[in-house]
Amino acid sequence: MRLPEFWLLMILAGVFAGAMEIAHAYDRPPPRQDFAVSVAAYADPTTPQQVHVSLAGENKMRISWITDKHTPPIVNYGTSSGKYEHSATGVISSYEYVTYISGEIHDVVIGPLNPNTVYYYSFATGSSSTPEYSFKTPPAQFPIKFAVSGDLGQTGWTKSTLEHISQSNYDVFLLPGDLAYADRIQPLWDSFGRLVEPLASQRPWMVTQGNHEVEKIPAIHHTPFTAYNARWHMPFEESGSTSNLYYSFEVSGVHVVMLGSYADFGYGSDQIRWLESDLKKVDRRKTPWLVVIVHAPWYNSNYAHQGEKESVDMRVMMEGLLYKARVDLVFAGHVHAYERFNRVYNQETDNCGPMYITIGDGGNREGLASKYKEPQPTISVFREASFGHGELEIVNGSYAKWSWHRNDDDESFESDSVWLKSFASDTTCKANKK
Ligand SMILES: *[C@@H]1O[C@H](CO)[C@@H](O)[C@H](O)[C@H]1NC(C)=O
Ligand SMILES: [Fe+2]
Repeated sequence: MRLPEFWLLMILAGVFAGAMEIAHAYDRPPPRQDFAVSVAAYADPTTPQQVHVSLAGENKMRISWITDKHTPPIVNYGTSSGKYEHSATGVISSYEYVTYISGEIHDVVIGPLNPNTVYYYSFATGSSSTPEYSFKTPPAQFPIKFAVSGDLGQTGWTKSTLEHISQSNYDVFLLPGDLAYADRIQPLWDSFGRLVEPLASQRPWMVTQGNHEVEKIPAIHHTPFTAYNARWHMPFEESGSTSNLYYSFEVSGVHVVMLGSYADFGYGSDQIRWLESDLKKVDRRKTPWLVVIVHAPWYNSNYAHQGEKESVDMRVMMEGLLYKARVDLVFAGHVHAYERFNRVYNQETDNCGPMYITIGDGGNREGLASKYKEPQPTISVFREASFGHGELEIVNGSYAKWSWHRNDDDESFESDSVWLKSFASDTTCKANKK
């Protein structure tokens, strides 16, 4: 986290970002509140920062944090504040990107943990002033509530989205790609980590990658996803995947598949083979709900991001697998707006297909995608270019409620909502019960 190179990188990144700018205009409404990212170094270099937690296999949680100076990868934790009956040790890593050297990234898996329980945790930094954090584990059974919002970035709009989400009493956050919008300026990954820490240290944040995570620089930095993979280690090993770019996890009766729009999805690719085997393992008696997250939407009636291969080709490659598996819901980001579709298969309304929802409205600096194709296609039910987030409240094995909340309104206000019935409880579109 050395900062002298910041401006050099800023210029470099600006050139490439400009060259890669997508040829459609976003609207930039005035931010709801002023907000400036902070990349200033902390006075004490052993201060833990950017703390976030994620689910890591059955009853386990991965804890990640960064320090500027070396501290051991040890988490002390327990169910009462200040008393840590348990301790776990993990690993340390760091990465280099052009002239930037990351802080020390700590990665520790803790557990087994009890469901629906608050755990208090702290780090062995050697300093007595090390703060205490806490998270709540998801419930073992329904009901469970997911908050969903993609393309977050780090603006005043993002801050407003995060405030709404923190009021929603959610259990697990699902992020369909495009996190920091660092776009090669590595200190912006650090400021993003600090911005989301109040939420991401308290509930599991499960993310997948978007185009803004690639961060290659021709002839200078060949490896894609360097920062993303180092900072946001998701449970891919635990789900039999060979890549951090696609994985699955199960929580409270829901099987969630995270796909990688920017990993190979062609014929014979690891991702396709992994997806096939992962979907085969789903048992709808154990996990009645099956949800898929991807960055680039397969269905989209906005002018933004039409015709990209991650949307068109990936849909062709994977839609049949999802249909056969009776996926209940597919969430995407990428388009900075909200759109809800019917149940769809092969471009038409189909009662046995997944419901598709675009929720790329987290609030990044590019603004909103507000130009829609007219007339509205019949498969599209509701569309609006406003910043916000969604909530998926799974009531039981049969019913769930989806609602969309705009930042312009109070959190309790639902601009769009719909009840869903799971395929596991449906007799006409039979889902696999092992
Ligand atoms: C599931 O929840 C719905 C909505 O609250 C309710 O009508 C239904 O009876 C519940 N089903 C079961 C099996 O509990
Ligand atoms: Fe994107």
